[in-house]
Amino acid sequence: MEPVPPGIDPTKAHPSRRYNYWLGGKDNFAVDRESADMVASGFPTVALAARENRRFMARAVRHLARDAGVSQFLDIGTGLPSAGNVHEVAQAVDPTARIVYVDNDPVVLVHARALLTSSPEGRTAYIDADLRDPAKILAAPELAATLDPSRPVALMLVAIMHFITDEEDPYGLVAELVGALPSGSHVVITHATGDHLTPEQYAEAEETNRLSGVPFRLRTRDEFARFFDGLDLIDPGVTSVVEWRPELPPQHRPREEDVSMYCAVARIP
Ligand SMILES: C[S@@+](CC[C@H](N)C(=O)[O-])C[C@H]1O[C@@H](n2cnc3c(N)ncnc32)[C@H](O)[C@@H]1O
Repeated sequence: MEPVPPGIDPTKAHPSRRYNYWLGGKDNFAVDRESADMVASGFPTVALAARENRRFMARAVRHLARDAGVSQFLDIGTGLPSAGNVHEVAQAVDPTARIVYVDNDPVVLVHARALLTSSPEGRTAYIDADLRDPAKILAAPELAATLDPSRPVALMLVAIMHFITDEEDPYGLVAELVGALPSGSHVVITHATGDHLTPEQYAEAEETNRLSGVPFRLRTRDEFARFFDGLDLIDPGVTSVVEWRPELPPQHRPREEDVSMYCAVARIP
């Protein structure tokens, strides 16, 4: 991906571009590929994990749009545009669906045009903001102009919370966003875990994450479940992304330990 657009530091790896690389995309710099390869040296199935995470996201959005009557989505940590962006999945079910995307990577901003290809009946918007500043997201004019605050919203935090360290108050950030949404809204979160790894694999994954230059916090099942305190988990509750309302028969699903991602969808009472 050359040349480098203004305002972008090509010497620092960024999660969106590593993820793009694992998904087979071309929107990444050498530093992102090196960081991605470092992570893969400690957790060799990371590209499979990225694909399964993306598949879960599509199943969750389809479920919400089709069966839960949700037609508004706030997708924080959108990533670079790729096959099956939230608006494409949601609007295939409900063309009137409205989606607000949020990401803090300037490269995602450069590519945001591809996220703004709404169906004529629906609407999409993009906010250049950081999850660690929920007040900015909630006050953004694009949010007010796109989503109706009196109707349920699905808050999507898909493969982003593991970039938020304990010092950055991950539970407080989620609570602030959840607190701003009306009853009947939903929260969708996926998160990397080391629960299925042996102690040696866990140590290796921690070390290569550290060396990759991107802060990363694996969380246990209990630590993940805490994000949903006070919310009503919908069936099947906290599971591996592989096992959440799967569309493939068991023999065609990857092993949970090769994906090592928890997910859940909950309703705000
Ligand atoms: C692994 S990608 C996931 C993309 C998409 N949600 C998915 O699951 O397919 C994580 C995304 O979160 C974004 N991100 C990471 N930390 C963020 C933060 N503090 N604020 C906003 N976006 C952030 C990254 O730029 C990246 O695009």
